Amino acid sequence: MPTIIDGNALAATIRGEVAEKVADLVATHGITPGLNLLLVGEDPASTVYVRNKGKDCENVGIRSTIVRLPATATEDEVIACVQAWNADDSVHGILVQLPLPKHIDEHRVLRTIDPEKDVDGFHPVNAGKLMIGLDGFIPCTPYGVLEMLTRYNIETSGKHVVVVGRSNIVGKPLAMLLAQKRSPGNATVTICHTGTPDIAEHTRRADIIVSAVGMHGLITADHIRDGAVVIDVGINRITLADGTTKLVGDVDYAAVAPKASAITPVPGGVGPMTRAMLLQNTLTAAIRKARQ
Ligand SMILES: NC(=O)c1ccc[n+]([C@@H]2O[C@H](COP(=O)([O-])OP(=O)(O)OC[C@H]3O[C@@H](n4cnc5c(N)ncnc54)[C@H](OP(=O)(O)O)[C@@H]3O)[C@@H](O)[C@H]2O)c1
Repeated sequence: MPTIIDGNALAATIRGEVAEKVADLVATHGITPGLNLLLVGEDPASTVYVRNKGKDCENVGIRSTIVRLPATATEDEVIACVQAWNADDSVHGILVQLPLPKHIDEHRVLRTIDPEKDVDGFHPVNAGKLMIGLDGFIPCTPYGVLEMLTRYNIETSGKHVVVVGRSNIVGKPLAMLLAQKRSPGNATVTICHTGTPDIAEHTRRADIIVSAVGMHGLITADHIRDGAVVIDVGINRITLADGTTKLVGDVDYAAVAPKASAITPVPGGVGPMTRAMLLQNTLTAAIRKARQ
């Protein structure tokens, strides 16, 4: 049977570590890390995500402030909010919940965030730093995947990693991180996407497969070789025969798990790690500020 990479347990460990370091920062510097979250509109999923991120902060001693703007807010109003937080020294991290309403230029808003407070790691400065191997902020999901590999002692150096999906928030940064000449990293990385004619041709040769697509059943037993490590980033809600719904990943877990040497479940895999790494990034932002 494969090793089940337990994202819930690992995230709890990381939250414990963050809580200790937050307490230390308060004690030694009198600084309480602060994360400000901006929610524009009333998208139900985004509302839940933001609420959970706020609760996660409270649980580790990070101060969180959630500001809600109506879906009719203008781009300038959103930008003014971000600029005010950029100028506020008590705000160490800024998170603008995506997606934004269609009339708002997401890229312009993300570019407005001070890169030193960009705890989602989406600002072009942080994307650029990631690309050339400098310390910036790593987007939370790729960061969570790296932590899973590291803490489960899964070697990446010299391995062939296939990342399926090339989004700016998951696939591309993760592929870049794993190709860096450092640990974890130093892997030979293949990126697959909708332009890849035969994904299985690549994944079958992979030591480690990461699927970040958003399509249940994309990765079948036929896509992996015996002993591969399978990281499932995908989150999909499917409706069962009895009408109830269920969260599943991209991977056909029941068929793939027996062939894998290690695998992440959905839920309870990458998801909780993403949430934990936001806390880590906020703590890092506050520590960097304290050192200035
Ligand atoms: N667990 C977590 O914490 C977490 C965090 C973020 C996202 N997610 C989940 O991860 C998944 C991906 O998220 P995302 O934001 O990266 O999504 P995204 O922006 O929609 O990107 C999806 C990527 O998958 C590729 N793709 C789509 N269909 C494909 C197919 N049939 N074959 C090969 N590649 C295909 C797309 O290729 P093209 O570029 O060619 O269009 C794109 O690069 C979603 O299910 C999302 O909910 C989970």
